[in-house]
Amino acid sequence: MPRRHCIPPASRLTMFDMPPQLELEINGRRYDIRFDPETPLLQVLRDELGLTGTKYGCGEGQCGACTVLIGGSPRRSCQIPARAAAAKPVVTVEGLERDGQLHPVQQAFIDAGAFQCAYCTPGMIMSSVALLEHNPRANTTEIVQSLNGNICRCGAHPQILAAVQAAAQKIVRGHRS
Ligand code: FES
Repeated sequence: MPRRHCIPPASRLTMFDMPPQLELEINGRRYDIRFDPETPLLQVLRDELGLTGTKYGCGEGQCGACTVLIGGSPRRSCQIPARAAAAKPVVTVEGLERDGQLHPVQQAFIDAGAFQCAYCTPGMIMSSVALLEHNPRANTTEIVQSLNGNICRCGAHPQILAAVQAAAQKIVRGHRS
């Protein structure tokens, strides 16, 4: 993980050292946090807010394990400073379920067995959700292209593709958009 932004212990802080307050909206809930605004959003999500569904993979924007939605667009949270997420709603994999029901993409991943170790799964799901929210009739090429930046080292790509196609059909049939 990129170097952690260290904050001096509270006893050594002066009012000039205090990190500014950041307001984040995550999964429909507002959080006021004091954090170095340059801290990667991934670190805030996992270490401060306990939202560990978002995974740390490469820390370099290459693997997609840390993908979240910011303002509806898929973003690598390891590369986004917390301050950049302050103005827009953030959705993590924990925020997809509604009223006890998994999002169709989540359910389709389970139904298709679209994982082996599952480390990449949250990022795959978030990228797929972003795609289908903008283009529920995405064809195979578009699905493959949109998941191009999400790496699965187990080789579950055929099942992942099948899951996204199944979720797309379900969404088009009107189960949920
Ligand atoms: Fe962010 Fe790999 S951990 S892209």
